[in-house]
Amino acid sequence: MKEKWWHSLVGYQIYPKSFQDSNSDGIGDLPGIIRRLEDLEQLGINMIWICPVYQSPMMDHGYDISDYTKIDPMFGTKEDLKQLISEAKKRGITVIMDLVINHTSSLHPWFQEALKNPEGKYGKYYIIRKGDGEIPPNNWRSLFGGSAWERIGDSDNYYLHLFTVGQPDLNWENEELRKELYRMINDWLELGIGGFRIDAIAHIKKDLSYRNLPPDGPDGLHAGMQWFRNVEGIETYLRELKENTFDRYDCFTLAEVDDIPEERLNAYIGENGYYSSVFDFCHCFHSQLDGKWKGHWKEMLADIRDRVFERQKKMEGKGFFCNYQENHDIIRVPDRFLPKEKQNFHSLSMLPVLYFFLAGIPMIYQGQEIGMTGYPREKIGDYEDLATYNNYQEYLLEGMTPEEALEKINATSRENARTPMQWSSEAYAGFSDVKPWFDVNPDYVTCNVEEQRRPGSLRDFFRKVTALRRDSAYEKTWVYGSFLPQEQETGQIWGFQRSYKGQELIVLVNFTDQPVRTVQAYLIRKVLLDNYERTEKPEQGRNTIMLRPWQALVFESDGSDLI
Ligand code: GLC
Ligand code: CA
Repeated sequence: MKEKWWHSLVGYQIYPKSFQDSNSDGIGDLPGIIRRLEDLEQLGINMIWICPVYQSPMMDHGYDISDYTKIDPMFGTKEDLKQLISEAKKRGITVIMDLVINHTSSLHPWFQEALKNPEGKYGKYYIIRKGDGEIPPNNWRSLFGGSAWERIGDSDNYYLHLFTVGQPDLNWENEELRKELYRMINDWLELGIGGFRIDAIAHIKKDLSYRNLPPDGPDGLHAGMQWFRNVEGIETYLRELKENTFDRYDCFTLAEVDDIPEERLNAYIGENGYYSSVFDFCHCFHSQLDGKWKGHWKEMLADIRDRVFERQKKMEGKGFFCNYQENHDIIRVPDRFLPKEKQNFHSLSMLPVLYFFLAGIPMIYQGQEIGMTGYPREKIGDYEDLATYNNYQEYLLEGMTPEEALEKINATSRENARTPMQWSSEAYAGFSDVKPWFDVNPDYVTCNVEEQRRPGSLRDFFRKVTALRRDSAYEKTWVYGSFLPQEQETGQIWGFQRSYKGQELIVLVNFTDQPVRTVQAYLIRKVLLDNYERTEKPEQGRNTIMLRPWQALVFESDGSDLI
């Protein structure tokens, strides 16, 4: 595989509204990020992805853009962004922006024109189709609940919005629109950013028959994913997009695409794929708080392991997934993977070891490094997110009582991951000196960055993890090494071997609260990482290993000695 500059990235995702406020308006901003660059450098990452900071009415917190060319004043100015890029560069950190081109805000001037004249130039920028009076063109359900169509006034015209009503989908069939988007993308790349995280891109192509589908819920609608995700023909647009933009800048692109059919993986993220990398969603729908896995966290973790390993084998030598456990759209990983009473230093510190040494690009989400969690709200009004409200309504419609619906929201709402970053035990967690736009988790008094600057903290362990991932003595093996599952039969160990040019590295994690002995015998040449203090020297020779509860152990082995 040809080596590329972005292969060794270790990322950190910033949700800017909740990261650091610098001007006392209760909202995080770009100067706030600049102020925290030192902390990020200490953490050991070399790339930051910033969720959208473009001009937006914030109906979906920035994923609804009303002017692609401007930074929203809430976040600062273009000058601030330039300064962020150059300050980050001095610390060896690349800045990646979010690119939202499946839809705009309904307040975008293009859409405002489209409303006035659906048949005109800008009407063709969006997907506007005829319904029949109050009956929309078809019964697709929006990804955020309710009909995916919104009527324009009392005309027969409806516009499509796969996300909120305030996010009309763009019409990618229109070449003029596509060219306009490419120009905009190149303007941002000119500023010196390292690339983009690309939002909702799997949805840009729709099945053009727009036919009705058999209802799959009490609302009479159909979730129709196959009609608007990875639809045949999308390849033409993806190739064109890449050739007209990303290729010209050798930038890094990370796409939000779930469920890529295996035979298309190479086209997507192979050597000349449409993107550098895609997120691997394969654990996102598992939660011990809700649904099928409720109360079965051990079995759930074993299941996730098997899926992740399968994906690793599929991608081996072909390309790079982006591996992560958290983002702004899912609840925090301690909550999702572990019951509250099982959360402690050892259980939390084994979590990053599950994914950081896999093949691919590891990403940390802000606050993950200090073990931030969600917290239950007492009323639905404490949430801000429209998607969360829509879900709540759906649960009521399904027959839940308001209490039951709120309980489910507390266990599932993505907003649990969007509470302000907990920097210190000062008022408002050091995020701001005024009341923030969204309440801070009350546990900030004990769970915060200041407190975790000490050796032996979770954050300190994350630093060891990133340091080992980027240690030049081992980096090539983590990045290019082969992947071989180990100990899968135990049901308790998440283990694998990575090897490259004679170097063999072994990762063994006991993801349960019970000790367990490995089935295979290993030769420990050198311990590289351990979330328990090792007092005794590694055993001589080849032996099975007794792993303590939650123990995460990474060591260099002697390949020839492995069974
Ligand atoms: C992506 C974003 C999510 C947003 C949606 C619509 O899934 O991650 O936060 O709401 O796209 O843009
Ligand atoms: Ca601010």
